[in-house]
Amino acid sequence: MANKKVLILGAKGMLGQELVQAFSRDGEYTVTAWDVDDVDVTDFVVAEKKIRILSPDSIINAIAYNAVDRCEESDEEYRKAMVLNAEVPGFLAHLAKKTDRIFVHYSTDYVFDGTNESGYAEDAEPRPLSCYGESKWAGEKNILAEAGRSYIIRLSKLFGKPAMSAIAKKSFFDMMLMIAKTKESVQAVDDEKSCFTYAPDLAEATKALIEDEAPYGVYHLPNSGSATWYEALQELYTQAEIGATIQSVGSDVFPRSAKRPHCSVLLNTKRPILRRYQEALKEYLAHME
Ligand SMILES: NC(=O)c1ccc[n+]([C@@H]2O[C@H](COP(=O)([O-])OP(=O)(O)OC[C@H]3O[C@@H](n4cnc5c(N)ncnc54)[C@H](OP(=O)(O)O)[C@@H]3O)[C@@H](O)[C@H]2O)c1
Repeated sequence: MANKKVLILGAKGMLGQELVQAFSRDGEYTVTAWDVDDVDVTDFVVAEKKIRILSPDSIINAIAYNAVDRCEESDEEYRKAMVLNAEVPGFLAHLAKKTDRIFVHYSTDYVFDGTNESGYAEDAEPRPLSCYGESKWAGEKNILAEAGRSYIIRLSKLFGKPAMSAIAKKSFFDMMLMIAKTKESVQAVDDEKSCFTYAPDLAEATKALIEDEAPYGVYHLPNSGSATWYEALQELYTQAEIGATIQSVGSDVFPRSAKRPHCSVLLNTKRPILRRYQEALKEYLAHME
């Protein structure tokens, strides 16, 4: 497979930058990495023109609107979420279909309502609880309606090297490491369970999906091992040798605008299982030293 062209959109994001690394590593791909300063993909006319000129074999969309609570709070924010999370992937899937290219897009465990304690397989019926979840599910439906050569990969709770933008959302682990510098005692929610996803692992799993020519469709590719925020924080502070006390609390202690699923564990029934999040976390912390 000599020098296939890959276009990565949202290339300065937490996942985007790891996709650039993964596809650049062995020189088998010509990688084009674009973020909003290269092309604002919401301008469909300009974006289509640039993408057609580049003519990539695969378009990987790591662009996101991920302000989960803000999205609930105003019509303007909800509109932004719908544009970035639903209309943009629909436009890209349509363009990929017209030009017979592979399209990869990422979605979330927040498309599920979280009532299934045994977790959600790829074909489980989404029923989002929040505006953010609705916008991501709308994006999935727009892509599926094209019935092109598309992969929709769901993940949850991404962590890894922070995105390059100053306004980027911090991962849970980065936020809790920062908090530990000033607090001796923290509270963590123990009634929301899901999986964590290490950005470099997901980037490699995405590359493998394309290279294996896996059937197009929906995939769940988080790291293995589910945890509540409380359990994950215990793991973090143990590994990082932080002595702060952690108090387990219910989600009612932290009222937030967007309703979260109670249990949104993503089951990966189609692809090789990714390593446990605890191992990935160990690697992430080692890289920070
Ligand atoms: N983070 C999580 O915990 C999580 C959980 C589940 C699913 N996901 C999904 O995983 C994927 C990657 O998320 P992420 O956390 O890596 O996102 P991220 O760090 O926020 O990166 C998104 C990138 O897209 C850029 N972007 C925004 N608007 C754009 C536009 N109009 N045109 C071009 N680029 C634009 C952003 O630039 P600016 O920052 O300058 O706006 C940013 O560099 C998304 O589909 C997300 O929904 C993430």
